[in-house]
Amino acid sequence: MIGASICRGTGATEPWPNPDQEATQGQVEFLYAYAPERIPGGPLTGGMWRYRELLPIADGEILYPMPIGGTPLLAPPALRRETGLAHLYLKDETRGPTGSNKDRATALVLERALRSGIKTVSCASTGNVATSLAVGAAAAGLQAVVFVPEEVNPAKLRLMLLAGARVLKVREGYAAAFRISREAAKAFGWLDRNTGVNPATLEAKKTVAFEIWEQLGRRMPDVVVAPIGDGPTLSALAKGFRELVLCGVASRVPRIIGVQAEGCQPVKRILDEDSPLEPIVPDTLADGIAVGAPVSASMVVREVRESGGSVLALPDEAFLEAIGVLAQRAGVLAEPAGAAAFAGLLRATSLGLVAREETVVALVTGTGLKTPDFLRPVLGAHTIGADLSEVEQALR
Ligand SMILES: Cc1ncc(COP(=O)(O)O)c(C=O)c1O
Repeated sequence: MIGASICRGTGATEPWPNPDQEATQGQVEFLYAYAPERIPGGPLTGGMWRYRELLPIADGEILYPMPIGGTPLLAPPALRRETGLAHLYLKDETRGPTGSNKDRATALVLERALRSGIKTVSCASTGNVATSLAVGAAAAGLQAVVFVPEEVNPAKLRLMLLAGARVLKVREGYAAAFRISREAAKAFGWLDRNTGVNPATLEAKKTVAFEIWEQLGRRMPDVVVAPIGDGPTLSALAKGFRELVLCGVASRVPRIIGVQAEGCQPVKRILDEDSPLEPIVPDTLADGIAVGAPVSASMVVREVRESGGSVLALPDEAFLEAIGVLAQRAGVLAEPAGAAAFAGLLRATSLGLVAREETVVALVTGTGLKTPDFLRPVLGAHTIGADLSEVEQALR
């Protein structure tokens, strides 16, 4: 991993440095003494904090007040039948406090903030990170300052404001919001939660891999599919699986397939053309993955290559269809970026990148409850009088 300065993991002798310094420098590597004992045994309780022996928090009571992690690994029978994937699982990351996988990173960053007495936290976001930080900060009694693109999803914006965050809409879009948020955090001494910059975000998101492995009965899946925005979701997942191997409890990592939008595929381009990152202007309705210059692009490329996986780019239409299939065949409600991994899995299967007998996990990273405009029902509703014959006629 990147790193000028180095922080040691739990059990090391040095105290944790001020997370604010780490975050604004963004150059920290967390080191752990990997061993089987670092992985907990017994019933799957405790949520994300279950893995605190592999997280950058010292001993002591957890101060962050909301439950986090421990999301279900679903084995949806109807979806398995529909896809022909007998060992398909959905890791349902929509079950966090604000309905996205960002809640893990928020929790760990804020836990560290609470322990070091920091009062203001900030980030740039396409929508979900800011919502998560706003709500998490409210719960923790901290002030959030969030920078979002001007055209941010209105429901997400309302949630940020409802939770009492200071919201700054940046006219020039997400890349500019990211830059100015970093400058502001440095200038005003806030804790920078920015994804891919604050190293604790990666540490938190890697717990998804630990959970998948434990939920499969301490077995590795063959393939895991994840969306790519800035890249930490995918690279953290890969890090988590690698750490299980380093701890000596697993012998291999899964292939990792990343999914981007056709209108925003900078990482796929790096892989296909073996070229450096070329920032682009995103053109996709999947706001969570509308990132034209992903902060963690090189890490994602390395992880995908080393795992023997690939990156696919799909049209927005495929995400909208996937939202419908997930709702109708698995009862899982997703937003476009949240359904991207499942859409990518369907494509990967049709391309022969995934075999039907393999154990495959698709991450569902964001709830559809915040994005009602993208929910396309297959049936219309009928207005009836309260009479059995009208019920019969309507359902005919
Ligand atoms: C629902 C959803 N899925 C996926 C992503 C992409 O995650 P990352 O930026 O870690 O690659 C985001 C980012 O905001 C998101 O909101």
